[in-house]
Formats: sequence, C-alpha cells, structure tokens
Amino acid sequence: MQAGPKQLFSEELRGRFGEANRVLVLTGAGVSAESGVPTFRGGGATGVWKGLPFEVISSAGMLERDLPAVWEWFHYRRGLLEALKPNPAHEAIARWQDRFGGLALVTQNIDGLHQAAGSREVIELHGSIWRARCVDCGARHNLRELRSDNGVPACFDCGSSMRPDVVLFGEMLPLGAFEQAAAKAASCELCFVVGTSAVVYPAASIPEIARATGAYVVEVNPERTPLSDFSDEVLTGNAGEILPLLG
Ligand code: APR
Repeated sequence: MQAGPKQLFSEELRGRFGEANRVLVLTGAGVSAESGVPTFRGGGATGVWKGLPFEVISSAGMLERDLPAVWEWFHYRRGLLEALKPNPAHEAIARWQDRFGGLALVTQNIDGLHQAAGSREVIELHGSIWRARCVDCGARHNLRELRSDNGVPACFDCGSSMRPDVVLFGEMLPLGAFEQAAAKAASCELCFVVGTSAVVYPAASIPEIARATGAYVVEVNPERTPLSDFSDEVLTGNAGEILPLLG
C-alpha cells in the first residue's frame, strides 16, 4: 500500500473521526481475511464441501435433510478457526469502543474474532459458529463446552438435537439483531463498512440506512463493490493495514 495516511484519508474524514461520538462499523468476511479466514466471494472461499457448494451444505434445506452432514461441515470449519487470531483490523475496532462514546459494531461474520480482539458488544447478524441452538427448546449453548467435536450435539437442557446457531441460507436473521443494527445505523454520524461485498441483504442495507439519515459512509475494501459509488469515501486496501492508521 503506497498512500501514506495523509493521502489516504481526506481532511473531511479526519475531522469527522476526531469529533464523532455515534459511530457504526459493519464488517464482513474481508475483515478476517488477514487472519486467514477464507472470504466467500473473494476467490479464497472453501466453496465446496464433499462435492456440495457451501450454499447447499450451509442451507436450511440441508438441515432438514441431513443434520449430521451439516454438523460435520461446521465441526470442520470450527476446527479451521480454532487456531486463527484477530488481526490489526479487529484490534483497531476493539480500541474504538473506548474512543467513541457510542460505537456500534455489527458483523456478518460468525468467526468470533471481534470478541477475541476484545470487542465487548457485537451485533452478530448471522449468528456464531461457537454456539449451538436446541431444535426443540431453543436453548443456546457455548460449543467450547462441548466434549466431542463430532456428531450432532445434544441439548444440555432437554437432550434434544442441537443445530449450529448460525443463519443458514434460506433462513431469517436472528430476531432483533437486524432491527438493533438498523436503529444504530439510523442514529450514527459516521459509518464504516469494512470487508464486505455488500451483496447480501438485509446486511447490505445498513449503510444505506446510515447514509439516508445523514451519516458519512466510508468503505474499506481492496476491491470496489456496489457500495463504492454510494459511499462518501472509499479507502482502497486491506483493513488490517488501513484501520490502525485511523487511530
Ligand atoms: N480487508 C478488507 N476487505 C477485504 C480484505 C481485506 N484484507 N480481503 C478481502 N476483502 C473484501 C473482498 O474484496 C470482498 O469485497 O471482503 C469482501 C468479502 O466479501 P464476501 O466474501 O462476499 O463476504 P461478505 O460480504 O461478508 O458475505 C456476506 O454472505 O455468504 C454469506 O453469510 C455469509 O456473512 C456472509 C455473507
């Protein structure tokens, strides 16, 4: 990355970053790319599992048809994530929670790396790979407490089968998560959109809500997305290199 901070950020952004209080950060798979997590549409994705495209193995239909296969895929992904660490982008965002009085962190990621970096309040739009949910009583359980890493885990409360507490293709977002994020977007002054291709809705509508209510929208991505022309400022590059320069 050539451009120094002086060239990278406009005076406008500097000023707003220095004065803002209510800041929203929306993240996608790209914020975890430098930690080694494959993105979905950035070419590095583990797009196929045992001959099944991930949109199929990670779908509500598959859950109905073959819960053990879905778990095998999620046990495998959790195994991949186990060794991965937050990167400077996660760490910068975690620092911002003490810098801005009103920071809202909204993520599409299920990897838990924001929390691992120290972010205390994270609105997880697509759930978490570290949790399971009972298909009967709905209880949520922390998978780090699970004794075995294979098969279909049983609910610690009622003994029924559990499923990954992740939003699968064809499913609605967890109740309240999007509404909470939309409310934060509607009241924020500055909105950072970091590492998302901005093609999956309703998550991609969050910067639109923020802009429509007067926020300054900043995109951070090495590639252009449908959001780039819409944003007030585009910072082209890797989040792990750019965000720490902001402060
Ligand atoms: N820093 C910033 N952005 C990056 C980096 C990086 N180091 N590396 C890649 N990117 C960008 C890519 O250019 C791409 O625009 O991150 C984006 C990743 O896009 P996707 O793979 O589509 O991921 P995301 O937008 O999070 O997908 C949304 O789709 O598949 C579902 O549920 C899944 O949450 C996911 C949702």
